[in-house]
Amino acid sequence: MGSFAQARWLLDRAALPTGSGGFDVTHPSPLLALDGVDLVIDGRAILRGITVQSDACRIAVLGRNGSGKSTLARVIAGLVPSTGGEVRVAGVDVARDRRAALGAVGILFQNPDHQIIFPTVGEELAFGLLQMGQTKVQAAEGVADTLAAFGKGHWHDAAIHTLSQGQRQLVCLMAILAMRPKLILLDEPFAGLDIPTALHLTRVLARVEAGIVHITHDPRTIAAYDHALWIDEGAVVAQGPAVTVAGEFEARMQEIGARDDLAHISG
Ligand SMILES: Nc1ncnc2c1ncn2[C@@H]1O[C@H](COP(=O)(O)OP(=O)(O)O)[C@@H](O)[C@H]1O
Ligand SMILES: [Mg+2]
Repeated sequence: MGSFAQARWLLDRAALPTGSGGFDVTHPSPLLALDGVDLVIDGRAILRGITVQSDACRIAVLGRNGSGKSTLARVIAGLVPSTGGEVRVAGVDVARDRRAALGAVGILFQNPDHQIIFPTVGEELAFGLLQMGQTKVQAAEGVADTLAAFGKGHWHDAAIHTLSQGQRQLVCLMAILAMRPKLILLDEPFAGLDIPTALHLTRVLARVEAGIVHITHDPRTIAAYDHALWIDEGAVVAQGPAVTVAGEFEARMQEIGARDDLAHISG
């Protein structure tokens, strides 16, 4: 099997076992369901009444710096419990059922160095699988399969600090894919990458059959997305078809950018 075919095979296995070819209305629970999600930290409302219900495979979250996007991603991943409302990913209550959450949702942060904890690629990829309760033998197989699918078998014992930022980002993505989550959250994953690396990552992501929630302040990166959510000051401004919401967001950002008053520019 060539490396592309292998990647395809692995990614197919990461998809829903329904053979439906993706996440559609036949899925018993919505892929992403947020119901009135609030997050208050030290008396300050960071997220306010966020409600989303979507089976779209490709969901974008748009918002300016400081609007609450990364916080929302952490809440969807179950890393930060909301202080009000409900979060479910493919039916899993991600904040309460942490082990099930590991199989439901994975998160790729903007900076791979905030994610990586082990010195070698093999150890980094095995970690999540062991956390999910796999034996060492099962985890080793999962790691080998994932690396092979990306033609990176030779990276197994590589020291992570010897890899470039783009390569480290790919390690993080492979670690997530190895766990075969139903939903992958991308928190501005292209921000630190040069154009060729970003294009490579885009191609890898296009092949992923798990659902994707892509967080960005740049509406141009979500042209091919189905559903979009625009948030500002922790609340939903608009949601609907990605093309429509991206257009509204872009127009509003141009309008704000045309002003001279820097007091309106956060982040
Ligand atoms: N743990 C925290 N404690 C206090 N404030 C926080 C915390 N996490 C995020 N915030 C605040 O919430 C707001 C949204 O932050 P963030 O989610 O990082 O926005 P974005 O990713 O859209 O730039 C910011 O004002 C930030 O300072
Ligand atoms: Mg952020």
